[in-house]
Amino acid sequence: MVNSDGEGSLVDQVQKLLAGDADALVDPYPVWNRLRDEAPVVRLGDAVLLSRHRDVKQLLGDNHHFYSRARTKTSARYENARQTFSPHGRAAFDTVLDHEFTQLVRLDPPDHPRVRRVVTPPFSAKALRTEMQARVDGRVREALDEVRAGGGVVDFKQVAYTLPLKVLGDLLGIPLSDLDDIHSWAFRIAENKLNADSEQKSIEAAGAYESLMAYIDRLVERHRASGQPTGLVSALLESEADGVVNGTEVRAMLALMIFAGHETTSNLLAIGMMALLEHPEQWKVLVADRAKAPAVVEELLRYVTPAHFLQYVAAQRRELDGVLIEEGDTVIGVLASANRDPDVFLDPERLDVLRPDAKLHVSLGLGPHFCLGAGLARMEAASLFSAMAEQFPGARLTDDPVVWGGRSLRTPIALPIAVGT
Ligand code: HEM
Repeated sequence: MVNSDGEGSLVDQVQKLLAGDADALVDPYPVWNRLRDEAPVVRLGDAVLLSRHRDVKQLLGDNHHFYSRARTKTSARYENARQTFSPHGRAAFDTVLDHEFTQLVRLDPPDHPRVRRVVTPPFSAKALRTEMQARVDGRVREALDEVRAGGGVVDFKQVAYTLPLKVLGDLLGIPLSDLDDIHSWAFRIAENKLNADSEQKSIEAAGAYESLMAYIDRLVERHRASGQPTGLVSALLESEADGVVNGTEVRAMLALMIFAGHETTSNLLAIGMMALLEHPEQWKVLVADRAKAPAVVEELLRYVTPAHFLQYVAAQRRELDGVLIEEGDTVIGVLASANRDPDVFLDPERLDVLRPDAKLHVSLGLGPHFCLGAGLARMEAASLFSAMAEQFPGARLTDDPVVWGGRSLRTPIALPIAVGT
């Protein structure tokens, strides 16, 4: 039984991590590891947390049977919030719910496979190679030219932040000059959405959604007018013309790309680079042989876990390890803990870029909702780390302490790196 008493207890520490407490985020792994060892299935308030690899794997991989995404929309937590909000706050909360629950990641069958089929071809290995590899490499060259020009010490967080945003711009046909607006709306939405405790946050998120969706309308119209025959937006518009998806689903898909493809990749790039430089013997493996970049990326995905936890809803009543999970309960899978489960990974706390079991990580999800952009994220990371190893083999961390922010998407606020130019 897990002790839930007071400050400093395991429950208190886990709750701080779930809430994004900056001090707790400095070193979350001892807490996640203790949770997995002492209470691998545990109820905390209205949610059940799963932290073993095998349970997280089932949560993600079998989520159309035991667990559901779509049903979160009608969860008691959201319903209670709606009842207590003013009419204005409730309307804002409903606006956000409607946008969120049209996005692929929150659909269940039969809608999920129907919409996912439309956007799968542009993310195939072949399409990425022909459409995106040269653009990604070009964006990496640009980024490292800036690093070189900055000389001495650079904030690598900026590189890690800008690169995936520009790549998303290339993928969706968004001009560079619009990317800051896009990011600011996406950030305001992510910070404020679906907060059942704050009417004001719902109003803020709904406002930002309005701006983002108006921009996406203009993007779609521009694309239609240009008649560009290839790419992701075209695939979506063709499927809309064929009646496979509707206009709302097309716009929701574009919004989701912006949410799903930026902060996650940015974390892999920033925290991944930091982890490599904290382990100079691992960095040297890449410097000596840049063909190892794909293996390095796989181990960094495991070690860094760009999104620490994901939330589903139980679609059936069941008992797991003596804990009763009621239908409709929120179920949180702790990916960061699953990726360091000693039942699966040998010596899990050790960063080992050549470990054979790295690919068993769950960082990109599994099963029906497996990350659609996995190939693109891996491509960006391999291209950046490989170019860094070639151009800045003597890179090292400075002595400045790193300040952490985020929540599930734990991220350094800044990451100074001495590049030695
Ligand atoms: C290192 C970077 C990334 C990580 C760690 C990551 C992680 C994930 C995870 C864990 C899921 C599953 C969510 C769930 O089960 O609820 C997911 C889904 C998804 N990701 Fe990624 N992602 C990354 C990059 C990207 C990129 C670059 C894109 C697109 C440009 C993207 C697009 C998507 C989409 C559309 C889904 C929803 C798939 C579905 O529901 O069928 N992701 N991602």
